[in-house]
Amino acid sequence: MKQFVMESAGVNKQGRLTLGGVDTVYLAEKYSTPLYVMDEDVVIKNCLAYKNSIDKFYGGRGKVLFASKALSAVFMYKIVKECGLGVDVVSGGELYTALKAGTNPADICFHGNSKSEQELFEAISQNVGRIIVDNKEELLRIEKIAGSLNKKVKILFRIKPGVDAHTHQFIMTGQIDSKFGVAMENGEALDIMRLAATLQNVEVVGADCHIGSQIFEVLPFKVTAEKMIDFMAQVRDEVGITLSELNLGGGFGIKYTEKDDPVPYEEYIKLVHDTIRDTCAKHNLELPFIYMEPGRSIVASAGLTLYTVSAVKEIKDVRNYVLIDGGMCDNPRYALYKSEYSLCVANKAAENTDYVATVAGKCCESGDLIQEDVPLTKPCAGDTVAVFATGAYNYSMASNYNRNPRPAMVAIRGGKDRLVIKRETYEDIIRNDVF
Ligand code: LLP
Repeated sequence: MKQFVMESAGVNKQGRLTLGGVDTVYLAEKYSTPLYVMDEDVVIKNCLAYKNSIDKFYGGRGKVLFASKALSAVFMYKIVKECGLGVDVVSGGELYTALKAGTNPADICFHGNSKSEQELFEAISQNVGRIIVDNKEELLRIEKIAGSLNKKVKILFRIKPGVDAHTHQFIMTGQIDSKFGVAMENGEALDIMRLAATLQNVEVVGADCHIGSQIFEVLPFKVTAEKMIDFMAQVRDEVGITLSELNLGGGFGIKYTEKDDPVPYEEYIKLVHDTIRDTCAKHNLELPFIYMEPGRSIVASAGLTLYTVSAVKEIKDVRNYVLIDGGMCDNPRYALYKSEYSLCVANKAAENTDYVATVAGKCCESGDLIQEDVPLTKPCAGDTVAVFATGAYNYSMASNYNRNPRPAMVAIRGGKDRLVIKRETYEDIIRNDVF
């Protein structure tokens, strides 16, 4: 029995790759390629695993927010609502999508290091649950907008706890040299708390952090939790505000290749819970309400992308290129971060993977690669290639480079497929061009 990095992938009697029991070659034929496919049953399972763990350790004093930057689309906001999770949004566009999908504004946390006045106005007038404030200018902007709307806004501050999470430097946001938030170690974070305490239209309810993404070690999360509680005690002692909420961000790693070995979420959550409990006791601080914001770990392993091979270029003694009908326009992660992926030829899924090839996209960029020198079954033109674990940060980071329309997305639930995002058309692409 063949094993893939995605738990719900398998091989059927025809030797074709299946996801959630559905034949992926049939999906490629039915919906055309490139095609994103999401196994909703896996998304739901992940949402509930987080929710059950947070309920177990924090009771009614904790909440899971789906970091929707990983996959922002109407169907996703509906699923997470169905599972009892809230959402984190990071732009007016994500906020708009979440609200259109029926998300309760109170279940939304609005993040972002450079929110515009317009975005803040939208968030405040829509009564989002919490705004995570990044900097002093933003704080003063919120005070003004909230005042003009006669509202008092509940805020948390994005704090840099100064933790090195040993991940790719492009996606590491916890250290002091980061564009996100205010730093603890130089006193900036305390100063902004002092300023906030003097304002009329904001209520500082908590502190927020996020130390990076695709993290496998548990220690950075433990150290961060400890530092954040120490900081909350310092705010109580030196500023005189009791912060009752702590947002711990996201960042849990997932399995992209056989080398990856993620820790079960419950283990992270228990360790962090115990740390928070002990550190609060040390400071005689009441346990804060806890938010967690997983993004990747909810959706990445639920999704794959299907492509059609247009040609195979064997450059003798150099390299084999497999050319596909998508690329960095629908998955820019290898081009950006050299992110690793596992792949499979979906219509030859039971066969040996004794061919080594570089899978290259169709964009006019030499760097438009999906993966270099990966083991595959030898493909030929017309075959379907599947790239595993593309459920996070693929559709949400896709572009129209070279005026390629964004692919469609299909969701599978209970063995049935349905279209959840239509393929863009050429008409969609020129919609905003002024003639
Ligand atoms: N909360 C905050 C404040 C964040 O900035 C992020 C991710 C998350 C939660 C969710 O983190 P996750 O659980 O997904 O690791 N485009 C990159 C990832 C960027 C992550 C940005 N922030 C990638 O494709 O790997």
